[in-house]
Amino acid sequence: MTVRKLKSVKESFTTMTELVLPNDTNTLNNLMGGRLMHWLDIVSAITAQKHSNRIVVTASVDNISFKQGIKLGNVITMEAQVTRAFNTSMEVHVNVWAEDIPSGTKMKSNEAFLTFVALDQNGTPVDVPEAIPENDEEKSLYEGALRRRQLRLVLAGRMKPHEAKELKSIFNLDQNVTE
Ligand SMILES: CC(C)(COP(=O)(O)OP(=O)(O)OC[C@H]1O[C@@H](n2cnc3c(N)ncnc32)[C@H](O)[C@@H]1OP(=O)(O)O)[C@@H](O)C(=O)NCCC(=O)NCCS
Repeated sequence: MTVRKLKSVKESFTTMTELVLPNDTNTLNNLMGGRLMHWLDIVSAITAQKHSNRIVVTASVDNISFKQGIKLGNVITMEAQVTRAFNTSMEVHVNVWAEDIPSGTKMKSNEAFLTFVALDQNGTPVDVPEAIPENDEEKSLYEGALRRRQLRLVLAGRMKPHEAKELKSIFNLDQNVTE
């Protein structure tokens, strides 16, 4: 039996900073959503690579909402951490902050969850170390990760709704329904 490696969430925590330039914006001078998604994919992939010490691919991206526009000239800071590792996949959470340096204002603009799968040299999914949460925030993200995984696997048609036990428990659904 192989003993699974343990790694703290902190070990792969990654910060990425970008400056919103004219080529990143739409005609309203706001950061384009697609550009932000590109950066989110990169910072999360680096985090997942650091956790697994493997090449990773993006398996899925959960919904991302844009509450307020991010302006040309803002400095974007993305902070990514692995919330939980499953077998070959890892969920990564990213917080996004937009800062206007001249006015000294900084707001949290977005957050997102992405899932990555670690691959070996042949492109086959390979087991990753367990992610060990330490502080309260890490523990809370770890706790919710199983439900989010079940939701995305049900939506992707990879899990039957009746198999999503932890997800069903928060909706208090009838446990007798099997389909
Ligand atoms: C992601 C991928 C490797 C999964 O391959 P697969 O043959 O389905 O492999 P498996 O069935 O063994 O699943 C592997 C893991 O992926 C997870 N997975 C697969 N599809 C998923 C999805 N839509 N959402 C979340 N996780 C998913 C599985 O739950 C499993 O996780 P686990 O091992 O932790 O339980 C494969 O679908 C792929 O290569 N997709 C393209 C990735 C890509 O090109 N991304 C963009 C560029 S990086």
